[in-house]
Amino acid sequence: MKHEVTERVADLRTQIEQHHYRYYVLDDPLIPDHAYDHLFQALLALEAQYPELVAADSPTQRVGAQPLAAFAQVVHTIPMLSLENVFDTSGFAAFDQRVRERLGVSEPVCYVAEPKLDGLAVSLRYEQGQLVQAATRGDGRRGEDVTLNVRTIPSVPLRLLGSGWPEQLEVRGEVFMPRAGFEQLNERQRTLGDKTFANPRNAAAGSLRQLDPGVAAQRPLDWLCYGFVTDTRLAETYFAVLQLLLSWGLPISPWLTQLSDATACQMYVEQMRARRDQLAYDIDGVVFKVDRLVDQQRLGFVARAPRWAIAHKFPAQEEITLVEAVSFQVGRTGALTPVAQLQPVTVAGVQVSHATLHNMDEIARKDVRVGDTVVVRRAGDVIPEVVRVLPQQRPADTVPVVLPVACPVCGAAVLRVPDEAVARCSGGLSCAAQRKQAIRHFASRKALDIRGLGNKLIDQLVAQDLVRDPADLFSLSLETLAGLERMGAKSAASLLVSLAQAKQTTLGRFLFALGIPGTGETMAQQLADQFGTLEAVQQLRLSDLIPLKLSQAGKLHQVWVAAALPPEQPVAELVPPAELSWCLPVHVRLLAEQFCTVGDLLAVPPAEWVNEPTCQVAGMGDNLAAKLVTFFQQARNQTVIMRLRQAGLVWPAPVRSKQAHPVSGCTFVLTGTLTQSRHVYRELLQAYGAKVASAVSAQTDYVVAGEVAGSKLMKARQLAVPVLDEAALLRLLDESAAS
Ligand code: IVH
Repeated sequence: MKHEVTERVADLRTQIEQHHYRYYVLDDPLIPDHAYDHLFQALLALEAQYPELVAADSPTQRVGAQPLAAFAQVVHTIPMLSLENVFDTSGFAAFDQRVRERLGVSEPVCYVAEPKLDGLAVSLRYEQGQLVQAATRGDGRRGEDVTLNVRTIPSVPLRLLGSGWPEQLEVRGEVFMPRAGFEQLNERQRTLGDKTFANPRNAAAGSLRQLDPGVAAQRPLDWLCYGFVTDTRLAETYFAVLQLLLSWGLPISPWLTQLSDATACQMYVEQMRARRDQLAYDIDGVVFKVDRLVDQQRLGFVARAPRWAIAHKFPAQEEITLVEAVSFQVGRTGALTPVAQLQPVTVAGVQVSHATLHNMDEIARKDVRVGDTVVVRRAGDVIPEVVRVLPQQRPADTVPVVLPVACPVCGAAVLRVPDEAVARCSGGLSCAAQRKQAIRHFASRKALDIRGLGNKLIDQLVAQDLVRDPADLFSLSLETLAGLERMGAKSAASLLVSLAQAKQTTLGRFLFALGIPGTGETMAQQLADQFGTLEAVQQLRLSDLIPLKLSQAGKLHQVWVAAALPPEQPVAELVPPAELSWCLPVHVRLLAEQFCTVGDLLAVPPAEWVNEPTCQVAGMGDNLAAKLVTFFQQARNQTVIMRLRQAGLVWPAPVRSKQAHPVSGCTFVLTGTLTQSRHVYRELLQAYGAKVASAVSAQTDYVVAGEVAGSKLMKARQLAVPVLDEAALLRLLDESAAS
């Protein structure tokens, strides 16, 4: 028996050390954090049961790992400690009990609570208010000097604000990466074909330990402060000191709270657990600290952690499960996304049975196969994702994932554009999956906002071939709609009303609704504002949007002359030279707008290739510009747009100057029952530069009254505010649109 225990302890130590090294030194863990915690807890339990087996070199006897050799070492004058963990109410109650026993008090102890950020601990030294050094925790005694990288984090003050700070101040806190920044970073890594990060913690660690501070500066790092080391006593409580730190410009958690007893602490746990998904960053629990600093001092430390603090850990955001199959989902633009069908598993309280694998390159990079055991991660509202494979657990009969040659929905060929990671179904709007998604998007709230046109209904309309593109929606009859499953005459009629209402829209919404690849709501609105009319947007050419500098033209000229290309070759078929990394297919297309053949092109000096676009759009990159121009060049899209306009879709004509417009700056109040919903009129009026208020006052310029208008109409009469009916309003708007 004893022999078995000794072996188990040795085995646990080896495993822990290996994972420890992967996690802390290489930032590339093999197993999720909680699986590691599990091993660590098992070792702690055995060592507690058999104290004679505790050895000085056991992982339980130290705080961290050896620092990497590349950074200068920093010795922490006061070691950076870790925290004990509890996982439930009883664990916390035991901690609270121990605290009160040690302090010899029977009354409740006041605690301070804050989220436990999932990043990495750093210590920042300020001398005379200047940031002089930043170090990672390392093994707790010696860390790495990451001053140059930490200086790039915007929320780290390089100089303390205000006054009253001690000449020597060391503060401790967590460097982390907010989830949105992490997603963007991984997206960027994916497009560049670089390695993605498993989670925001690894991304933060990898970024902080970049040897090049220029790279670190581009990573969306943030930090929050939760500790301090000083010779002088700054205040009576931890809470008060943190308020002081905040006043000196050091960020502290917005959720920092003083709590009067253990019951309040448990309520805090529940509140933060419920809030977890909405936070902008990952947290893996909450931390409680005894608030009174004299009490902290009296409680002191054990080897790894302070006796006055405890971490209440939350369920893990990563779990291990099995890939049962991989299927492909077809999106609005035909993109095929591989999705892993998983053996269902609960991740942070939610059942997960599928997870995205992003694209084929990601599958290859992570080497995911059907039958593999994988780590899945779910955090916030982000779609669950397969993070990595556990290669040691791979059975012999795993099946590699292959990209289908035909679309799983419509059977059309699946194509891969050379410079894109995604594979696409070539079926366009003849593919039912793409049609469904396009119509969902068209009807969505930020697009045409067609009330009552839900997903189930769209599925039926597409499946029965009643709707092939968004324009078909407007020729649906009451009879057809009423004949559909779960559609009575009444809901059919109200859908027709919504469709009629949706025809009154704005150019921004219309452009967004078209589903131009890469054009989101904001870009659509920007195009509407900048160009004013649909025709102007439709007529844009690449040369209006994309610059080509003389230096670029010169290099291209040189390379293509040297390539001795056949003069009759069409310019459109030229391939961007691999050695000019800035050159994209879009630059070739730009030249193809002006020159037909290679002969024509090379006969002209590069100075004449130069393009200075006249209507560049802020925030629109070259690739997006190419997608926009391509979209409007496609005959299929031109037809849909024409049919939508024939169906009666309209929007206010552009207002040259909002000032010059008769209703611009006027305040309207809408009242009574109007034939279209009020939000339609509100948007119309706003598009003309008018304001819409909810109450009638002396500041109101017009009241628009529908049927059964009540008190607002009376008020308007009392104040002699002009009252318009709907027809008069439309006339007013029409006149102005025409003028
Ligand atoms: S206090 C002496 N407060 O959790 C007290 N730590 O598991 C040391 N952490 O190394 C830490 N949020 O990296 C503290 N609000 C918080 C924290 C926090 C995250 C991290 C920190 C620490 C680890 C211990």
